[in-house]
Amino acid sequence: MSKVKVAIIGYGHLGKWHVDKALALQDQCELIGIIELNESTRATLQNQFPHLKIVSKLKDIVDLIDAGIVVTPTSTHFSVVEQLLQAKKHVFCEKPLCSSVREALELKKLSLDQKTVLQVGHSERFHQIWETYRPIFMNLPGPYVVRINRAAAFKGRATDVDVLQDLMIHDLDLMLWLFSDKPNSVIAQGAKIRTKYWDQVSAHFTNEKGCHFYVTVGRNYTREVRDLEVYGSFGTYHVDLFSNQLDFATPEVFSDGSYVKTEKYPKRDHLLLEQTAFYHSILNQAPIVVDVQDGLNALRYIEAVTDSLNSQRSINIAPL
Ligand SMILES: NC(=O)c1ccc[n+]([C@@H]2O[C@H](COP(=O)([O-])OP(=O)(O)OC[C@H]3O[C@@H](n4cnc5c(N)ncnc54)[C@H](O)[C@@H]3O)[C@@H](O)[C@H]2O)c1
Repeated sequence: MSKVKVAIIGYGHLGKWHVDKALALQDQCELIGIIELNESTRATLQNQFPHLKIVSKLKDIVDLIDAGIVVTPTSTHFSVVEQLLQAKKHVFCEKPLCSSVREALELKKLSLDQKTVLQVGHSERFHQIWETYRPIFMNLPGPYVVRINRAAAFKGRATDVDVLQDLMIHDLDLMLWLFSDKPNSVIAQGAKIRTKYWDQVSAHFTNEKGCHFYVTVGRNYTREVRDLEVYGSFGTYHVDLFSNQLDFATPEVFSDGSYVKTEKYPKRDHLLLEQTAFYHSILNQAPIVVDVQDGLNALRYIEAVTDSLNSQRSINIAPL
């Protein structure tokens, strides 16, 4: 195979961008078509892309493709990914992989049985700053405190799921990926404001080494916030994922006499990088950048937070 024949499943807010990226990566993939449930969207798409197959069901295109990119609402991920894997297709599924650990275990087994690539869209891993700072964060002397905040004004999207599956999944994946000390208990509080699900949640994770991880997410917030902070005897790092800036407050003094160093880093096209990595795994057997186990791990922590919210108690989390 010299190019991956791919279909995008779901042409909503994010699906449009995935189509854009697939069209930009024609040296690695051939976009065969788009699967979209909405009839009027399909009619518009067929006018816009007369050379593509625009269909409502996977079965109408499945024999023509090697891979599917799943950008449908989260509550549909499991059934769409399962169908693709059963047909022995490679899958890139937007975050979260599915809605529960039980479903993720089924998808893991299926992808291993079928020997297909299954990549998950934890896009926050693709910030350029992590190339330098992940090795530093992974080796921080403990104990340390991590604080991650992600909040936005209500946009009316992703209301089929709670804010944990909508937003916190990004931060739990980052927490597990960036730091070697994994939390093993959590207590959480939250509020249902806009939807029948949790809309704002603060979770406090700890471990036996004395590390604390405070993760707060909200989708009925006053402004856009996306930041991560870690402090300990080594100083304080603050990363603003919106303005692409890292500040480091040293416990000593820098050579110019200052106590804080600021680094700007370039904004990257995360979707383009994710799709490139996906095609690279299929075509060249490159390791999967965010694999099914990563998707499963993030869901295990989501389930612990949910248990704590529902029981109002601290929940133990078994080691990964
Ligand atoms: N990585 C990120 O930062 C990020 C950002 C936004 C959204 N997402 C994820 O992307 C997914 C989609 O989000 P969105 O905001 O684009 O949603 P959306 O509601 O705007 O779009 C979903 C589209 O899928 C279509 N659809 C629904 N079921 C389908 C099916 N079975 N087959 C084909 N089409 C179907 C809908 O008609 C709709 O057009 C969600 O899982 C969300 O969590 C990830």
